[in-house]
Amino acid sequence: MRVPGDKSISHRALIFNAVAAGRARIENLATGEDVASTAVCLRALGVPVGADGVEGVGLHGLKAPQGPLDCGNSGTTMRLLAGLLAGQPFETTLLGDASLTRRPMDRVSEPLAAMGARVSLDPLRVGGGHLHGAEHRMAVASAQVKSALLLAGLQAEGVTRVVEPLRTRDHSERMLTAMAAPIRVEGTAVEVRRAARLDPLSMRVPGDLSAAAFWVVAAVFHPRAHIDLPDVGVNPTRAAILRLLPVARIKDGVEGGEPVASLHAASLRGLKPWRWSDHLSAELIDELPVLAVAATQLAGTTVITGAAELRVKESDRIAAIAAGLAAMGAQIEERADGWAIEGPTRLQGAQVDSFGDHRVAMALAVGGLLASGETEIAGAECVGISYPSFWEDLEELCR
Ligand code: S3P
Repeated sequence: MRVPGDKSISHRALIFNAVAAGRARIENLATGEDVASTAVCLRALGVPVGADGVEGVGLHGLKAPQGPLDCGNSGTTMRLLAGLLAGQPFETTLLGDASLTRRPMDRVSEPLAAMGARVSLDPLRVGGGHLHGAEHRMAVASAQVKSALLLAGLQAEGVTRVVEPLRTRDHSERMLTAMAAPIRVEGTAVEVRRAARLDPLSMRVPGDLSAAAFWVVAAVFHPRAHIDLPDVGVNPTRAAILRLLPVARIKDGVEGGEPVASLHAASLRGLKPWRWSDHLSAELIDELPVLAVAATQLAGTTVITGAAELRVKESDRIAAIAAGLAAMGAQIEERADGWAIEGPTRLQGAQVDSFGDHRVAMALAVGGLLASGETEIAGAECVGISYPSFWEDLEELCR
């Protein structure tokens, strides 16, 4: 099964190359609506973005858009563009759909303001100020916020330093390093300086590990399954699922500074509950919904903690998954920052709701695959946000 190109890396490949000095070819870009939102916003800023790459306009070449930018459902688009646009001479308004409009943006507006940005909220409006470097000690572990501050820092006078409470995905650091940006990483701290230019970075985007995670869980817990997943990104800041579940890594390589491997997973019985610690939730943030499904199949109690951020994703994922799995007969207790799940449970098909959230829909689909009887998922079309061919791929696998 070939999963779509990685969503996080695709957003960055488009945004960073948009302000690079020249043309970059990008293959295997994520096919979902979120990355399409980023492309639409960049085109509105005067950047030629095509199906196979970007014509970079340089850090000073963006044009004031004709109207507000529509980030759709995509938090990554809104937050990263806020950082980029904070350093531009014109003001931009960033809008989103109902879900994105509810999500917290003060986590980017406040540190950007501390760098001298002109920024206001509801709706998010940025730009027209003069930026200076600052040290940011982040309260929440968020790769989106970190990346926004790095993009602002590349345009700011002096040094911008971002210190994370827990390590989050480092795609931005890797990509900016590969583009010869003035960036330095030291443990959980990253420093950038004003960049004169960024080298364009052509790359083939690795397969999305967060998409592969649905098939890994399906294969491991289905009684008769095996699956090969070629060319999946296995960045160590994001690959904890490969430690929690029995997944073989077959061939290793590197693409655009990102490690890539082919994965193999197959049915295995009798797995024990995981011992959790909060840093795992930061590393596995997008896999937690499907790992909650997996936990219903482990023999014993799994307690997932440190995942309060799930409350402010595309939906309240803690509540949405608790509701869906409870309807399927799981022993699941919703907690402020995660779940306590007792297994193993033979799940039963049920009518469940995605709450319009792509990862909830796909996680519950895996639950439905493992369950007896039929499962009906309301709002199933939302998988298009990150994985448009998910339902066809699921049918293909079950054939
Ligand atoms: C992402 C970071 C994470 C993740 C999201 C993608 C990124 O969000 O959940 O799907 O590309 O930087 P937060 O930064 O809000 O944790």
